[in-house]
Amino acid sequence: MRQRAYDVVLYGASGFVGRQTVAYFAQHAGRLRWALAGRNAAKLEDVRGNAEAGLIVADAGDDDALAKLAAQSKVVASTAGPFALYGSALVAACVAQGTHYCDITGETPWVRGLIERHHAQAAADGTRIVPCCGFDSVPSDIGALLVAAEIKRQSGQPCARIKACHAIRGGLNGGTLASLLNIAEAGALDQLGDPFLLNPQGTAPDDRRAHADVLAPRHDSDFDAWLAPFVMAAINTRVVRRSVALTPRRGSAYAAEMVYQEFLRTGRGPLGAAIATGLAGGIGVGIVGMRSAAWRAAMRRLLPAPGQGPSERAMDNGSFRCELIGESVDGTHVRGCIAGRGDPGNRATTIFVCEAAMALAGDARKLPGGVSRGGVLTPATALGLPYAQRLAQAGMTIEPLPQ
Ligand SMILES: NC(=O)c1ccc[n+]([C@@H]2O[C@H](COP(=O)([O-])OP(=O)(O)OC[C@H]3O[C@@H](n4cnc5c(N)ncnc54)[C@H](OP(=O)(O)O)[C@@H]3O)[C@@H](O)[C@H]2O)c1
Repeated sequence: MRQRAYDVVLYGASGFVGRQTVAYFAQHAGRLRWALAGRNAAKLEDVRGNAEAGLIVADAGDDDALAKLAAQSKVVASTAGPFALYGSALVAACVAQGTHYCDITGETPWVRGLIERHHAQAAADGTRIVPCCGFDSVPSDIGALLVAAEIKRQSGQPCARIKACHAIRGGLNGGTLASLLNIAEAGALDQLGDPFLLNPQGTAPDDRRAHADVLAPRHDSDFDAWLAPFVMAAINTRVVRRSVALTPRRGSAYAAEMVYQEFLRTGRGPLGAAIATGLAGGIGVGIVGMRSAAWRAAMRRLLPAPGQGPSERAMDNGSFRCELIGESVDGTHVRGCIAGRGDPGNRATTIFVCEAAMALAGDARKLPGGVSRGGVLTPATALGLPYAQRLAQAGMTIEPLPQ
């Protein structure tokens, strides 16, 4: 690893999020050696500007170029999606070269394929492959870890149940829409509905009722608000359940069958109730609509194309807040929060994935599980509480802040 030319390679650096990761590294990389990578040299040159960074050209379909890319760096951080189209050969190259990897995918059917193809090898080699290091699913997965760890610290008991409620202000990227449409067109929509899609074989409980996806609006007195189903819960809950299942049971802060559910906050009173009801209905219509080719064609026509996204002003004015309430088996309650300014799918996602890459490039002895941990992991199991501290240093609200 020491002889590698770079600490971090940013793959997909010319994309809408990719360009923001380059700007973040130009400002925060310090002494890290880093490079931009992607398929188009001219675009990459343009994005690099005056930054002191290398440049690597490698198409997502060029196995030789990807092998050379992965061999040159300790870590690859990818924002090139849809990941089911542009991510598989890159991850295979990273596993083959023992290169740590993180990305911002929310494509859980693709992640399931990575687990099947690469988990055993990456675990044996101590290579950390960490998908879902964007807005999906860092606040949920790291938030759940913070709350569970604090419950364990206060009561000595594992956490039995966590509910999380999101409030978001942000826009939609064309790349995100393309990824969703690709899931539908690949016939993988049904997989999204499996609450234990990302669990290791044999770790899903026999009785899954408490873990079923929430589809109806509800009032919650703990959050003092109306809550709607949250579209991204179908991604985030699977990631948190994988974290629970991958954490060694002895001393774990999570109970073996910890229940994790999440919602979208819509407000108080009749207006909050009306919005929650409308959103629940809208999500139901959307789930059915995504199966229709005409519906998908209309989405393509009306919504942003790949490479497009919200305006700079809209991204600066965005925000996110993920509040969590956990409960131990003996009734101890702990509240937690991860929040930040800026569009969650762009500003926050950029911080999440760049800080994940920097953590992976740092001292592995400080990461959960130490140098030997590897596999297709989650933000909580690969990066853990030290990563939460990094996010706090990067300006995010992190509560309770780990000691
Ligand atoms: N987790 C989150 O919260 C979150 C937030 C935002 C986005 N995302 C995900 O991130 C991904 C990117 O989003 P985005 O808005 O940045 O999309 P985008 O602007 O369309 O960027 C896509 C990137 O993929 C690259 N690419 C396309 N074909 C390639 C190929 N054959 N070889 C190598 N690279 C190739 C593009 O390169 P060119 O520039 O050369 O075309 C570009 O850099 C999507 O999957 C989206 O769902 C996740």
